[in-house]
Amino acid sequence: MAHIKNKQILIGISGGIAAYKSVELVRILVRNGARVKVCMTRSACEFITPLTLQAVSGNRVHTELLDPDAEAAMGHIELARWADLILLAPATANFMAKLAHGIADDLLSSICLATAAPVHLAPAMNRLMWANQATQANYKLLQTRGFVIHGPAEGEQACGETGAGRMLEAQQLADLLAASLAEKNTAIAGKTVLITAGPTREAIDPVRFISNRSSGKMGYAVAKAAKAAGAEVILLSGPVALESPAGVKRYLVESAKEMHQKALQLARQADIFIATAAVSDYSPAHVYEQKIKKSTDTLTLQLHYNPDILFDVSHAYPDLFCVGFAAETQDLLKHAEAKLQRKKLDMIVANPVGKNKGFEKDTNQLEILWQGGHLSLPENTKEKLAIDLIQTISRVLYSE
Ligand SMILES: Cc1cc2nc3c(=O)[nH]c(=O)nc-3n(C[C@H](O)[C@H](O)[C@H](O)COP(=O)(O)O)c2cc1C
Repeated sequence: MAHIKNKQILIGISGGIAAYKSVELVRILVRNGARVKVCMTRSACEFITPLTLQAVSGNRVHTELLDPDAEAAMGHIELARWADLILLAPATANFMAKLAHGIADDLLSSICLATAAPVHLAPAMNRLMWANQATQANYKLLQTRGFVIHGPAEGEQACGETGAGRMLEAQQLADLLAASLAEKNTAIAGKTVLITAGPTREAIDPVRFISNRSSGKMGYAVAKAAKAAGAEVILLSGPVALESPAGVKRYLVESAKEMHQKALQLARQADIFIATAAVSDYSPAHVYEQKIKKSTDTLTLQLHYNPDILFDVSHAYPDLFCVGFAAETQDLLKHAEAKLQRKKLDMIVANPVGKNKGFEKDTNQLEILWQGGHLSLPENTKEKLAIDLIQTISRVLYSE
């Protein structure tokens, strides 16, 4: 976490149960050499005392907008200028709403409005508060305005329910901050990166299709990480329930054939191609024009092999740096190594799928192989793994 050293990080705490995790977060950041100041909302002070945060950060904790002790009585401007990065952890539903609508009625919200520093959020709330249309609309608005949002994760919640809304763990947040504070990598900055993501849908009739469990989360995280590293990012996506990351040019397609055609066309302007999409290997040989009626006990579908996007792109553009993904249920490394050679790739990223692994989940584990190298990345959030993958691509490209 060398990138954290001497960085000035403002931790903003709003009023949620997860406020207790922020103590550990501040400890980790301070231990790694960051200069940390803490600002708390009034409700946050009901969950955890400013005294605790003062003890772990080594600095006075700020809570009041109208503070006569602040220089020229303008604490919000002082702190807004001081921060290299602001992380709101936890970010309540209420605080996200205020941020999305430019409300500045306390110290922390005023700082967020007055800063030029990147603002990161770690939302934490009950699953229904998170799923609420108002919160989701605010989340999307904040994303399009360039706020960086980490999580929330799914799992058991303090209220006894289970679902999406848990704040990421302190160590995960510290790792994500470290990665985003890393210097822009010269090997990636300014390069055009084409990324495919999500599943494809192969029509059987007008209402049915063959698809797979890919959520697109890994590919979208890679797109975000490449953008943050300074690349121009083109995202070619199958049908997913995800918003396009800020600053990324997205094209939406449905079938493997559409993705194949568009990838070959877009690859012409790319320097790096990362194929994370879970493309259907087969599609029905015949697409019924009308909905198939339930008339017989069995129905036989004949499937035809789809064109291989990665193989065709890597052969059509030999100078393109091509990274493939291999989702495997067994013999991960053996299959990945074979795919690396067969498709003439520069790098392959293997991840285990099936039995509650990989698809649809927020975490993953990766084995990255390239000609002459191998890196194992243990289970972590897809966001963190994506950042590590982009750094690995940069290093390999740089050493070429
Ligand atoms: C016991 C308790 C726990 C709460 N936990 C959360 C939470 O985890 N996330 C959240 O968004 N709101 C939570 N709330 C509601 C917020 O505290 C409330 O919306 C408050 O106005 C937030 O103020 P702030 O955003 O200025 O900190 C909780 C309230 C109580 C009483």
